Amino acid sequence: MIVNERMKDFLDSFDTGNTAFLEELEKRSLRENVPIIRRDTQRLLKTLMVLAGPMKILEVGTAVGFSTLLMCEAAPEGARITTIENDPSRYEKARENVSAAGREEQIDLLFGDAEEILASLSGEWDMIFLDAAKAQYIRWLPVLKGLLRPGGMLVSDNVLQEGDLTESHFLVQRRDRTIYKRMREFLYAVTHDPSLSTVILPVGDGVALSVKQ
Ligand SMILES: C[S@@+](CC[C@H](N)C(=O)[O-])C[C@H]1O[C@@H](n2cnc3c(N)ncnc32)[C@H](O)[C@@H]1O
Repeated sequence: MIVNERMKDFLDSFDTGNTAFLEELEKRSLRENVPIIRRDTQRLLKTLMVLAGPMKILEVGTAVGFSTLLMCEAAPEGARITTIENDPSRYEKARENVSAAGREEQIDLLFGDAEEILASLSGEWDMIFLDAAKAQYIRWLPVLKGLLRPGGMLVSDNVLQEGDLTESHFLVQRRDRTIYKRMREFLYAVTHDPSLSTVILPVGDGVALSVKQ
C-alpha cells in the first residue's frame, strides 16, 4: 500500500459508491481474485472523465470489464470504448458483463495480445487507460503516444507497484527486478518526454497521468 491504512480508510470514507451493477461486479471480481482498479483509482478515473469528456477511449487490460463499465458510465453520452484483453476466460466474462449492463453498443471488446492489436489500430484517441502487463509499458509507449490526439490523456495504472518501486534492488525479489527496472524506465520516459506533460500520483497502486502536448 502506498498511503497508510488510516489515510486510505479516511479517503474511502468520502466515497459515494457506484451504481448497484458496478458495486456487485466489484464484489464478485474481488471474491474471484480478479485484479480491478481500487476505490481511489475509480474516483480519479470518474473525475477525469468529467474533466476531459473523452469521446474515444482505448483501454489496454479489460479483465472482466469493471473499469470499462465504470468509464462508460462516467463518459459523456455517445462516447465509445475499445478495450483489449488476452485472457480467454476473462474476455468471455467481460462480454457477459458488458451485455448484462446493456452497453454492447458503446464498447468494442478486442481479444488478443495488446502489442499486436495496438499495432493494428489507427486514429486519434482522446484517452488511453493502460492497465495490462506492467513490464510492457515502456515497449508500448511509442505506439500509445502515436495513438493519442494532441491534448489526449494517457492514464497508466500500477506504476508504483505497491510502493516497492522505491525499494533497493537487493531487497526486491529476483523475479520482480526486471518489471521494476522497466517500470522505472517507463516513469523516466513519461516524465522526460518533451511531448508529454506527466504527473505521477500516489493513488491506488500509483497512476501516471500524461497529457500529450
Ligand atoms: C489489472 S487487470 C485489468 C483490470 C481492469 N482494467 C479493471 O480495473 O477492471 C490486467 C489485465 O490485462 C490483461 N493483460 C495482461 N497482458 C496483456 C497483453 N499483453 N495483452 C492483452 N491483455 C493483457 C490480463 O489478462 C488482465 O486481465
